[in-house]
Amino acid sequence: MKAQLLEKFKEIYGDNGGICAYFAPGRVNLIGEHTDYNGGHVFPCALTLGTYGIARKREDKRLRFFSLNFENLGVIESDLNDLTPYKEAGWTNYPKGVMWAFEERGYKLSCGLDVLIYGNIPNGSGLSSSASLEVLIGLMLKDMFGFDVSMIDIALIGQYSENNYNGCNCGIMDQFASAMGKKDHAIFLDANTLKYEYAPVVLEDAKIVIVNSKVKHSLVDSAYNDRRNECETALKELQEVIDIQTLGDLTEELFEANKDAIKSEIRQKRAKHAVYENQRTLKAVQALKDNDVELFGKLMNASHVSLRDDYEVSCDEIDILVNLAWETEGVIGSRITGGGFGGCTVSIVKNDAVDSFVATLGAQYREKVGHEAEFYIVDIGQGAHVL
Ligand code: GLA
Repeated sequence: MKAQLLEKFKEIYGDNGGICAYFAPGRVNLIGEHTDYNGGHVFPCALTLGTYGIARKREDKRLRFFSLNFENLGVIESDLNDLTPYKEAGWTNYPKGVMWAFEERGYKLSCGLDVLIYGNIPNGSGLSSSASLEVLIGLMLKDMFGFDVSMIDIALIGQYSENNYNGCNCGIMDQFASAMGKKDHAIFLDANTLKYEYAPVVLEDAKIVIVNSKVKHSLVDSAYNDRRNECETALKELQEVIDIQTLGDLTEELFEANKDAIKSEIRQKRAKHAVYENQRTLKAVQALKDNDVELFGKLMNASHVSLRDDYEVSCDEIDILVNLAWETEGVIGSRITGGGFGGCTVSIVKNDAVDSFVATLGAQYREKVGHEAEFYIVDIGQGAHVL
């Protein structure tokens, strides 16, 4: 892959040395959905799919970007002296946002860059292609300009740029998983303190399978921000009656005892999800430590029900995939993964059932929805790195 991308880079920008190469992965979240911005825990892992970047410093302040995923757009130019986002800049608003965020923190870029990008995360699949692009650029800047930033700083800078430059109020999970992923491990992250632990994911007789519904509903960003606001309001209402900093501070019992402080039914449902999902995540990580994959699967199923009914971030196509999975022999657990309103499901499937899982879900999904789903057997990969 690297050799091919280097060739392409030279073809577009010419060959005069100083070329650097990087990779940052996408992620799949096993459990702990919509908990990161609620002071709770998440349990994602980095994929081997992700975003590649090749770059070289320039002598001036120009920025030139080319993506092999959007070849028809050609080279998109910009300038370090003008890093304001604008719609026509398209995908380059992500790398520019990260550059802007570095500069905001006092890390000045002394010159521009020529950049080539290629990503193999399916577009709009909810497997964090944008976070992987942000982390990729963060690593590129750290390495090429010698900035003294940690990989966790790179994740935070990526999130900051997405929140303040690209307008999605996302939590830290995706960037953290991309920057800090570890091969064959999931990351048990307390999104409130950023304390984390790697948990080996050794499933002897099962595989993690992602199914891409290949739908992305348009309300993704706005509905995401709405959920966040609803949870913030619910937290304020709870704080009138109980001393907590985040919804993640609550157990199920404490929530039930105080939930009437939340004055709308919808907000009560949202907060309930945040609290219960966080507790489910703690239980799931313990189950994995105890080698109790069956319990892990049951908690995944409960996570889906809660995301569907209380948080209301699922959609028909995803529910069809999850229901089909639940009905299929050899499926230990299945749920929506990521922000929602389309994208992917994640399932744990017994080794000897994987082929029939793919065949059955593939055929039935096509019949019910009218287009193909895509299947990926997960390999848990390493976090962002220099190539
Ligand atoms: C998106 C966000 C994450 C997280 C998930 C839901 O992927 O980027 O921060 O909130 O949704 O768990």
